[in-house]
Amino acid sequence: GVDLGKLLAQTGLVTLDPGFVNTAACKSDITYIDGDAGILRYRGYPIEELAAKSNFIEVSYLLIYGELPTQAQYDDFADRIQRHTLLHEDLKQFFDGFPRDAHPMPVLSSAVSALSTFYQDSLDPFDQNQVELSTVRLLAKLPTIAAYAYKKSVGQPFLYPDNSLGLVENFLRMTFGFPAEPYEVDPALTRALDLLFILHADHEQNCSTSTVRMVGSSEANLFASISAGINALFGPLHGGANSAVLEMLEGIHANGGDVDSFVERVKNKEPGVKLMGFGHRVYKNYDPRAAIIKKTADEVLGKLGANDPLLEIALKLEEKALADDYFVERKLYPNVDFYTGLIYKAMGFPTKYFTVLFALGRLPGWIAHWREMLEDPARKISRPRQVYTGAAERSYRSIGER
Ligand code: ACO
Repeated sequence: GVDLGKLLAQTGLVTLDPGFVNTAACKSDITYIDGDAGILRYRGYPIEELAAKSNFIEVSYLLIYGELPTQAQYDDFADRIQRHTLLHEDLKQFFDGFPRDAHPMPVLSSAVSALSTFYQDSLDPFDQNQVELSTVRLLAKLPTIAAYAYKKSVGQPFLYPDNSLGLVENFLRMTFGFPAEPYEVDPALTRALDLLFILHADHEQNCSTSTVRMVGSSEANLFASISAGINALFGPLHGGANSAVLEMLEGIHANGGDVDSFVERVKNKEPGVKLMGFGHRVYKNYDPRAAIIKKTADEVLGKLGANDPLLEIALKLEEKALADDYFVERKLYPNVDFYTGLIYKAMGFPTKYFTVLFALGRLPGWIAHWREMLEDPARKISRPRQVYTGAAERSYRSIGER
């Protein structure tokens, strides 16, 4: 029963830990990672088993409610999500306000932020009915928002969701279909995207999830907190890495496919040159998600008949890096996003859209963490301390005297 935090506060001591490398910000029951052994489990279930046997809706339920659903619970959850996919007609006008070539991530975060204005019955984070409704609304509407952001960027008409379809099928149809034409949903494509969503669904206290928790700790509502999480995911060191990997592979390809000289540039630490999709704060071993995705990339690219020379470059890069002392010493392995871009590209998504797909997958994890935090009686507003390094006290001089 000793509260170490309180005890330390009384001593006046402050720990300095930039990037929270060693500091836990919370206790959590949701996701377990052993970075040295390369283990990832959601609510105790190994990621490999969920990837092989479950689906994204079921995994979302598991993350948010803590247990796998019974058939009746699953049907009810899936049905509620299916019935909330429509966007308010006025929200659609938002998409006209942005430049056509806008990056879809800020479009996504703006639209999610705007949900608080359309659903004012979402502002009380302690009203259980509101929280349930906001949870379902977000899971249902984010794919529609993402598809509309895509349609706007390519100048094509929006498609209303078709509530006879599952979440991933509906998203693919709204993204790639046309209003007057039937859209054949490819089951292999649907399964592959569903699998990628499962693999992205949670990863404990990563940058975006910590952001969701931090914003939520002020008792801001779910939409405001998730909108902040989307903005945190936008950065190239986090969710933006999947786009950055593809740009890196394209750059190497344009340079004649010279993997060796690229790796030399990385090792020489040329400014701005990193092996994107490699390295992780927690995994000091092969990222278990990357292992599953590498297999999927082979299958999906094979099924879609995509013979992508970038896959060959990626495989060579990985082989070279894993045998090189620089990467071995630093324990740098492929992370979840080393191979995802190749799959997204084969599916027809433009590069700058990849991080949106990460956001769709990560959404249930963000929601689960926000809810866990607000249900915790020991919850406190996030308010880190600092070590002040600025000027000592000095006197103001009027502008003419400076
Ligand atoms: N390429 C080359 N060198 C690297 C890489 C990389 N991708 N990642 C880390 N290193 C080196 C660093 O230069 C450092 O070397 P040094 O000790 O000689 O200075 C050492 O490895 C340790 O790296 P840090 O930056 O201290 O590790 P940190 O835990 O802070 O960063 C991060 C982790 C941000 C993921 C980093 O590995 C990186 O930038 N990777 C590339 C971007 C990326 O793929 N991000 C996606 C992460 S997963 C996700 O969000 C889905």
